Amino acid sequence: MRMRAAVLEEFEQPLVVQELDLAEPKAGEALVRLVACGVCHTDMYTASGVDPSGYAPTVLGHEGAGVVEAVGEGVTDLAVGDHVVTLFSPQCRECVHCVSPKTNICLAIRDQQGKGHLPDGTTRLSRDGEPVRHFMGTSTFAEYTVMPQIALAKVSPEAPLDRACLFACGLSTGLGAAMYTAKVEQGSTVAVFGAGMVGLGAVAGARLQGAARIVCVDLSDERLAMARHQGATDTLLGGSDTVQEILDMTGGFGADYTIEATGLVSVMRQAVESARMGWGLATMCGVAGKGETLDVVPRLLITGRRVAGSSFGGVKGRDQVPLLVQRYLDGDIDVDAFLSHRIALDDVNKGFELMEAQDGIRSVIEFA
Ligand SMILES: NC(=O)c1ccc[n+]([C@@H]2O[C@H](COP(=O)([O-])OP(=O)(O)OC[C@H]3O[C@@H](n4cnc5c(N)ncnc54)[C@H](O)[C@@H]3O)[C@@H](O)[C@H]2O)c1
Ligand SMILES: [Zn+2]
Ligand SMILES: [Zn+2]
Repeated sequence: MRMRAAVLEEFEQPLVVQELDLAEPKAGEALVRLVACGVCHTDMYTASGVDPSGYAPTVLGHEGAGVVEAVGEGVTDLAVGDHVVTLFSPQCRECVHCVSPKTNICLAIRDQQGKGHLPDGTTRLSRDGEPVRHFMGTSTFAEYTVMPQIALAKVSPEAPLDRACLFACGLSTGLGAAMYTAKVEQGSTVAVFGAGMVGLGAVAGARLQGAARIVCVDLSDERLAMARHQGATDTLLGGSDTVQEILDMTGGFGADYTIEATGLVSVMRQAVESARMGWGLATMCGVAGKGETLDVVPRLLITGRRVAGSSFGGVKGRDQVPLLVQRYLDGDIDVDAFLSHRIALDDVNKGFELMEAQDGIRSVIEFA
């Protein structure tokens, strides 16, 4: 079939919306008609060319939600008409990681996905007979996509897809960092660094876990107000005094849990230093620049602090994204507050500009 998609032709250049060919789903795959797709930092990061594993041409986009239009042979878990959220982090339910409760990092299709291929090593996307590579296994800046069923989470048809799409990346990453990676305990103190999509999700996740005190740190007063709306009990303007301020707020000990959601290694360091002696757990969500390292004084670890990393919030996508979406439907998470701009596929580059200007939390592409 023919469909319109936003193609990264060359790094550092605007995406070009154009018609591409999309082949039918093969065994184990589904054709999804996208209804909405959020614009995330990782798309812009790849478009900028600084991601060492990036490639072009490719169709960007990974925060998608839509409706299954067709399924390939052997697809048992999805049917035509199902509402789905796309998963850049799949869940095969069979690999050694999937059967362990300790991680959400599925190994099933990692290598092929990293190369821009579907699991059988080929692409469904092409242009004039030339293959075009998929991005993050999703390529959702497009009217349609073909993806393996292990990378599609079936969600309640009651969830509006323009909000469900946020669960495909940023929101689940933040919620999950608090709920699944850190497993924040009731009554505890949590410090969240950054109040973008991920940090605000972490604030909401800490609230859902029953944290007694949630301190959110950001540079923007507007974003700190949003953090209070999502459940932060205290807010701080970030700076060189932040660690001391958090220590002062916690009787000199630090927070039981700290969650970093800025991508800055200097802030990651603050997250470690403001975690509580004895048992403080510092969880890193941010993606740092190429070659950057995190500086930690080992004494902080010997005295009981721990450091964890969190990819997609530790969320096992097919099992847990539907549960998170249900929490939204139950009224536990105000997702509307994150949807700042609705744009058309043709305005995808404007979505990047809005993100760069920190105008709003998320721009969502709506497909006509
Ligand atoms: N681990 C994952 O699976 C995953 C998934 C999605 C995004 N991410 C990463 O998470 C990070 C956050 O993503 P986002 O979409 O929320 O980004 P964002 O840019 O919207 O938010 C980052 C926030 O950090 C704040 N900030 C900057 N400097 C600060 C400082 N010194 N102290 C406190 N706050 C500061 C900014 O004001 C901003 O509000 C990015 O690095 C992104 O690449 C990771
Ligand atoms: Zn797996
Ligand atoms: Zn993302």
